[in-house]
Order: sequence, then structure tokens, then C-alpha cells
Amino acid sequence: MPNRYLIANWKMNVPPEGVASFLDAMNGADVVVAPPYVYLKDVAAKFVNTGAQNCADQKSGAFTGEISADMLRDCGARFVIVGHSERRTIYGEDDALIARKLAMAIDAGLTPVLCIGENEQQRERGHAVSFCSDQICAAAVPQLSNANEVIVAYEPIWAIGTGRNATGAMVAEIVEAIRGALERFWPAELATRTPILYGGSVTPDNVDDLIEHGRIDGFLVGGASLDSKKFLALAEAMKRLPRQP
Ligand code: PGA
Repeated sequence: MPNRYLIANWKMNVPPEGVASFLDAMNGADVVVAPPYVYLKDVAAKFVNTGAQNCADQKSGAFTGEISADMLRDCGARFVIVGHSERRTIYGEDDALIARKLAMAIDAGLTPVLCIGENEQQRERGHAVSFCSDQICAAAVPQLSNANEVIVAYEPIWAIGTGRNATGAMVAEIVEAIRGALERFWPAELATRTPILYGGSVTPDNVDDLIEHGRIDGFLVGGASLDSKKFLALAEAMKRLPRQP
């Protein structure tokens, strides 16, 4: 049975109320917070469930400006997001690079949060299912056999930061395809307990349809995770997630 997760992806932002008061407001809620690197230790000091937003695809060496998965673990991170669409589109990260980052994260003992999802054109052309399945296939690194857990976040690019979330029915269709691809390409024992999250303009106002119909195990949240009240409302909503069969 997959675990459930609500993950805050702050991107290159901090909550307007400040890191410390945001964390205080969480008051032990069962959430993961992924701040910019430089706040990892602050978050980890108060919070077991700390995540990073990216990691290097190499273990160590002459890679100016990069941060390795081992270093993230040393700073208290337990999770790391890899393959976020902003990394893929703005910084040109391709499937091969992301596969190496995934392998590094697993080797470092971190739980990777692998982001996948189609763009608007791919959806309009009816290619969303095959595109997402291919991304799962491209992430099938040998290290998966040693992973305790890998989280998949379905984040359609057209829904991220746009205020246009996917509907529960749209998400359910892709989740089914992702489950099929996980079964085909990933080690069976890992695939059956891989949590699948949805991300893309999730707010307390649109979460109910996603919870009821999305067949998901939680959410990766950007904008609404910068507001402790909204994020706490999402943590509350998580309690209504049905058990997936
Ligand atoms: P959003 O971002 O909730 O602001 O759409 C989600 C994400 O990029 O992870």
C-alpha cells in the first residue's frame, strides 16, 4: 500500500510570513517541506520531513554550483525532487540527466520525488498517456532495486502555476497509465507501493474533486504551500483521501 504525502515545493520563494513562523504554524502536521537549499537546515531543525528541490547528477568533484545528494542528506534532507518541469524546461534537463539524479538520490538514501507530466500541446494531440508512460520508462535506473521508496508526482506542465488544475478524472486516467508503466518498467516490489501524487495549481478550493476522483496518494504543491493557512487546509483535506484499491 503506497504511503501518502503532502509536499510543499517553495521553489525560489520563502513564505511571506517567514520560514520560522510557517514551520511553527504547521504544528506537527504530517507534511513534507522542500525549501531552497540554504534553508534546509532551518527546516530540518524543526521538521523530520525535509526535502530538497534538486540535486547534482554526480557524486562529487569539479561541478561548480552543484550540490550532491549526500550533502543534502547531511543537511537533514530525506526527500529530493528530481525532474521538476521547471528544471526540464528552463534548465534543459533531459530524461538521461534526470535518471542520473534519481540514481544519485537513491544511492544517498534519499527518497526521490520524480516529477513527470505532459505539456499542453502533447495533451491536445492525445499524447499525454504515452508521454507520461515514456517518462516512467526513462527513469527505470538499476538503482531502483535498492530504493526503499520512490514517489512519482504527476504534474502536467500546463497546470503548474497557471491556476488551471487538471480535473480528478483527467488525473485518474494518467494515474492508471503511470501504474501500468510502473508495473512494466520498474521492479515489481517497488512499483506496487510507489505513491503517485498530483501537482499543478492545487488549492483548498479545488482539492475535493482531485481527492474524490484522482486516485492519487497526495499532492505536490507550489503556490498554495507558501501560505500556512492554505497548506494546513490541504493537510486537513488529505485525511479525506480514499484508500486506493
Ligand atoms: P503550483 O506548483 O502548485 O504553484 O502549480 C506545483 C509545482 O510546481 O510543484
